[in-house]
Parts: sequence; C-alpha cells; structure tokens
Amino acid sequence: AVNFAVNLGGLAMKNPVTVASGTYAAGREYHPFVSVDILGAVTTKGVSLSGWAGNDAPRIAETPSGMLNSIGLQNPGVAALRAGDLAWLAQYDVPVIVNVSGHSPQEYVQVIEALEEDDRVSAYEVNISCPNVDAGGMTFGTTCDGVETVVSGCRAVTNRPMIVKLSPNVTDIAEIARAAEAAGADAISLINTLLGMAIDADSRTPVLARVVGGLSGPAVKPVALRMVWEVSRAVSLPLLGMGGITNGTDAVEFMLAGATAVAVGTANFMNPFATQQVIDGIQAYCERQGVDDVNDLVGGLQC
Ligand code: DOR
Repeated sequence: AVNFAVNLGGLAMKNPVTVASGTYAAGREYHPFVSVDILGAVTTKGVSLSGWAGNDAPRIAETPSGMLNSIGLQNPGVAALRAGDLAWLAQYDVPVIVNVSGHSPQEYVQVIEALEEDDRVSAYEVNISCPNVDAGGMTFGTTCDGVETVVSGCRAVTNRPMIVKLSPNVTDIAEIARAAEAAGADAISLINTLLGMAIDADSRTPVLARVVGGLSGPAVKPVALRMVWEVSRAVSLPLLGMGGITNGTDAVEFMLAGATAVAVGTANFMNPFATQQVIDGIQAYCERQGVDDVNDLVGGLQC
C-alpha cells in the first residue's frame, strides 16, 4: 500500500488533502455526500473576534474560467465557531485547521488566545491575504513589515502548528515567504485569490458591488503552481498548495512543484465529491507510477 501520511509543519495528516478555507464551511453540508473524515484535515472559514457581516451583494460572480468573490470574511465570531462548527466536528477524528482573521494585528492574537483552550483545534491558518476587506486582510500580507507584525504576534501566543496564508497580489512572493518564515511560521499556504473584476456590458456596471474581488478556480492554477515552486526554493518550510485543484493530477502537479499538502477550494462548489476524487486520483497516480510514499512526490519536478 502507498504511504499517504504527511506532516505539515507539525500537523499530522493521514493524507495530503484538505479544503481551502471558506469553500467547505466545516463540512456539514457536504456530509450527506462525503464524510469530513476522509480528509487529511478540515480547514474552517476565516474567523474574527466578534462577527462580521461581510460586504454588500452581489458578492459572487462566475466567469468562464473561474469564480470571483468579494465576501468580506462574513463570519459569526470565534465564540459562535466554537459552539457551532467546532462542537459538531468533535464527533469526527479529523484534524481541524482554523483560519484566523482580524482587522488589526491585536485581533489575530485575541482570536488565537480564545482558541488555545479549545481541544478541537489542531492548527491555525493565519489569513493575511484576503483581498476583500479594507482594514486587515491582504494589507498585512503584502509587505514584509505587515507579515512580521502579525506572524510574530501570533507566534508569541501559541505552540500549535501555524500555517501562514499568502496573497498572490504581490511582486515578490519569495521575500514575503521569507518574512513569514523569519517571524515563526511552521508552514505556508498559497495562494489566496487573485484580484480581478467582472463587468456587465449591457448595464455598463461592475458585477460585484465592491467592484473588485478575488479570482479562484482553474483560471489561477498556473499562477499558483509558479508561486508554490518559487516559494519552495526560497524557504525551508513545508507548503500547502492550492489554486484551481479539481482532480488528482492537479494535486500531484502542486506536490511536484513543492507542496507537502494541497487544498481543494472552488471545485467544492461545483462538485461535492471533489475532495474524494482528488484523494482517489493521487492514489491512482502513485499506483500507476510505482510511487510507494506520497512524500516522494514533494518537490520532485525535474527541471
Ligand atoms: O477570496 C477570499 N475571500 N479570500 C479570503 O481570504 C477571504 C474571502 C472573503 O471572505 O472575502
């Protein structure tokens, strides 16, 4: 049998597949189709200290090649996450990565402090890359100083595995990744969504109320692969790769580029079985290629 277990910066996963934050909630709506415990880990939607209402609608637009969103991190706040989704997840033996957001560096720290006492949390994903909020979001993930402030603040209050999620909306992804590593990240996830927009020609108006939003899905896959490959050569941290993964072959490509684990995002909206198909597809690739440990794929690109 193929060894499928990976370790993402201290987070043990039975297989290398999780979900992209915000594309799967906590798995409850998918549960009629696939059990959450098929995953190497569940990743929950970005959570802030108290609830946020998010941006005005419309805040989703479909394009022929991908999806645009401008949700604005709508979430019920950390207490409601604990009482709701985290309590529900307690019945499953699957690691939980909680995606953490804030309007200020202090808010990220406060969210983590509130989660430290919760045994259902296995790891944090520090979201410094949301393109859809004015205060916070990618303002922290697009400068080395911003990365350093938020990541070192979070590092000071937790020993749990801390994954830092980076934005593709930067000129030099390698320097941003090195800043995250220096500030104490255990792993890096990338990419968050790529800034874009959609226009309705008949009404001459933008489709999204906020005008711009974040592009995801197959359209961004080549950008994401390139960034994973660049970051894998810039830091010695394990990477969680994502951006347009819809099948096992896509996932293998991210691992060859340098990702230890991968996340399925936009594909969840199209197909509730996407995660299962990605897991099965990686397995089939390994069997076909005679790979007996999935870790042997990581960084295996021959250039
Ligand atoms: O594209 C995104 N949308 N990335 C995030 O990190 C947050 C999300 C939102 O809620 O706007």
